[in-house]
Amino acid sequence: MTDSSWRERLRALPVFSGQLPTFDTDAAPADPTSLLTEWLGFALDSGVSQPHAMAIATVSSEGAPSTRTLLLKDVTPEGLWFATLSSSPKGRDLVQNPRAALLLYWREQGRQIRVVGDVEPGSRELARIDFLKRHPNARAIAAGGQQSEPLPATDAEYESVVAAARERIDADPDYVPDEWQAYLVRPVEFEFWQAARERDQLRLRYRQDGNGWVRDLLWP
Ligand SMILES: Cc1cc2nc3c(=O)[nH]c(=O)nc-3n(C[C@H](O)[C@H](O)[C@H](O)COP(=O)(O)O)c2cc1C
Repeated sequence: MTDSSWRERLRALPVFSGQLPTFDTDAAPADPTSLLTEWLGFALDSGVSQPHAMAIATVSSEGAPSTRTLLLKDVTPEGLWFATLSSSPKGRDLVQNPRAALLLYWREQGRQIRVVGDVEPGSRELARIDFLKRHPNARAIAAGGQQSEPLPATDAEYESVVAAARERIDADPDYVPDEWQAYLVRPVEFEFWQAARERDQLRLRYRQDGNGWVRDLLWP
């Protein structure tokens, strides 16, 4: 397939279809976390697929950006939570550069939420609670802390490493690797984006300003 036929096929795709929710920016709450939970609750109630899957971008000490999908684990007044291995590439980025950008995109509703914030590790107790809720196989795979390392040369080697970890977990169901970590993103900026069929998109940004949040509507 030539480049031009890809161009045609991509151009022909619809972006949004069906009924889109409205977004009354004048009625938006002063606290952006309230708006986030309002939108998240609506996404959940409307059956949006994987509304808790979010992209998270980190930047290495050399300034190299990278992004990947993670699950949103909680939203509290402090911010948004995710969990991963501190020994992973993103975990190492966060030691050097404890900032992240998050993106939630709900295509069924034409909604996007962007969040930028400072990242800090949560307590060991939160990491423990999160890890122990994972499926035993997921725990076994995470137990060695090798996320994103090259796999062993053969399937047999991989399976024996996972089987050994699974045995360890079966013998000690409370085992939590030191590297498993819950992280809190403390937001300093949010942007809520709503697609609209009859008019341009609506964008509402909140930026932290000492005592509270400053709101701006942005040019689409
Ligand atoms: C829908 C979805 C959810 C995911 N959730 C997590 C998660 O909660 N924690 C995690 O460590 N990786 C999760 N992953 C895998 C990450 O995207 C990524 O491959 C992995 O964390 C390694 O990232 P890194 O090499 O940048 O550190 C998920 C992937 C997808 C597609």
